[in-house]
Formats: sequence, structure tokens, C-alpha cells
Amino acid sequence: MSELNLILLGPPGAGKGTQADRLRTDFELPYYATGDILRAAVKEESDLGRQAREYMDRGDLVPDDLIGQVVVDRIDSDEARDGFVLDGFPRTLGQADELHRALEGLERHLTATLLIEAPDEEVIRRLSGRRVCRDNGHTYHVEFDPPKNEGFCDQDGSVLVQRDDDKLETVKHRLGVFHEQTKPLVELYEKDGLLRRFDGTRSPEEVNGHIRATLATLRLEEQL
Ligand code: AP5
Ligand code: MG
Repeated sequence: MSELNLILLGPPGAGKGTQADRLRTDFELPYYATGDILRAAVKEESDLGRQAREYMDRGDLVPDDLIGQVVVDRIDSDEARDGFVLDGFPRTLGQADELHRALEGLERHLTATLLIEAPDEEVIRRLSGRRVCRDNGHTYHVEFDPPKNEGFCDQDGSVLVQRDDDKLETVKHRLGVFHEQTKPLVELYEKDGLLRRFDGTRSPEEVNGHIRATLATLRLEEQL
């Protein structure tokens, strides 16, 4: 079986986490979301969490040297031998370069970068209504994807909360950071022929269908 080494790219609120949840079930790939990894570190008050917290609270990116090795260690692990899904990494040109060099060292390559696109107004509507479960970060939206029991996670029953960085001012700042620091990666992966675009304004099921179809084709191409 060929490897599927994937990046999910897109503005905050485009639906990266929502799609990753579905992809994990569909393809059984390990999933590494740097936002989740960092939020867990903040909760545990580890060294990484203590250093990352102030950046995250402001909606800024944490410095490249705090997060790069964390991701490289996971990719270079047994569970990621057949592939992985990265969500939220890389998001600067420096991180893209670090990932590229790490994969080269492991004699592996990226299969594709899946870009989920959504306009700023949509992102703002989504993030203001997002709720996540406290235990495992499963994601809902009060209007677009409500849980069956209001306030509680369908999957594990834990209470639903709002993320600290989903306040309107912080969301606007995160969008600015995306346009300035992460968008250049679109051009980079387009040039490399790795970019696949998805319309994130469609329903989660439609976006999932498009991604699955693309991945099925990519897998066939990898086997040729
Ligand atoms: P991170 O956790 O990665 O946040 P983000 O990129 O801002 O993305 P989000 O998680 O907000 O959005 P998403 O695309 O996953 O959307 P979701 O599926 O939840 O990063 C947080 C912070 O950590 C950063 O600000 C930074 O400080 C730090 N960090 C992380 N990685 C870093 C790195 N590599 N370098 C440096 N710093 C880093 O969906 C959003 C909402 O919309 C939900 O309510 C959902 O139900 C709803 N929804 C989803 N899809 C649809 C749809 N198709 N239609 C309608 N509603 C939808
Ligand atoms: Mg997310």
C-alpha cells in the first residue's frame, strides 16, 4: 500500500478539523493537529505550553522553533509509517522548509496539500458559533452542526465550550496572520504541483465527498 502524506491547509474556521475527523475514519491515518497539540500542552502546563500560551491567546503563531521538532518527531514514528494528516502545520515558509527537509531525510515525500477555502465573513460566522468538547475537542456549530443534546458532545458526552481564541477580535487577528504568514504556502505548493483546492463553503458532507474522491485518485496514481 502506498503512503498518503497529507497537509490540510486553509484559514481558521475553513473546516480543517471537521474534515480531518472524517478523514481519520475513512482512511485510518494518524492525525497531527498542531493547534490541538499546543492546547493540550497549555492545559498540562508543560514547558511547551507555558511558552506557547501568550502567542495563542493573542491569535499569533508560536515561533517556528517551538513547533517544528514536535511535528517531525511524530512523522518519524511507527504509527505514521503508512502516512499522516497534518492540520495547521506548516503555516509559515520556514515550517514548510523544515517539513520538506525532514521528509527528504526520511526518503519520503508529500502526497498532496488539501487547501480548504472560505471567505473571511464566513470564517467569522463559523468561529463565533463553534463549540468544542472539553475532553476530546470534537467540534460543533450552534447553527450549522448542532449536537443532539444541546451543550454536550454526541461522541463522548463531555460538556461543550467555546475556544479562548474564538473571541471576535482574536478571530480577526488570526485571519490577518493567515493572510500574511500562511497564504504564501498556497503559491509554494501550487508551484510544486501538490495543491488540491476545495470549496469550504459547501456542506461538510460535500467537502468530505470531494476530498475522498481526490484521495482515491491520488492513491491510484501513487500505485502506478
Ligand atoms: P488551530 O487550532 O490550528 O486553529 P486555526 O488554524 O485557526 O483553525 P481552526 O481550528 O480555528 O479552524 P478549522 O479550519 O479547524 O475549522 P473547524 O473544522 O473547527 O491553531 C490555534 C493556534 O495555535 C494558532 O492561532 C497559533 O497560535 C497556534 N498554532 C497552531 N499551529 C501552529 C503552527 N504550525 N505554528 C505556529 N503556531 C501554531 O470548523 C470551524 C467551525 O465551522 C465549527 O464550528 C464547524 O462545526 C463549522 N464548520 C466546519 N465546516 C463547515 C461547513 N462546511 N459548513 C458549515 N459549518 C462548518
Ligand atoms: Mg482546527
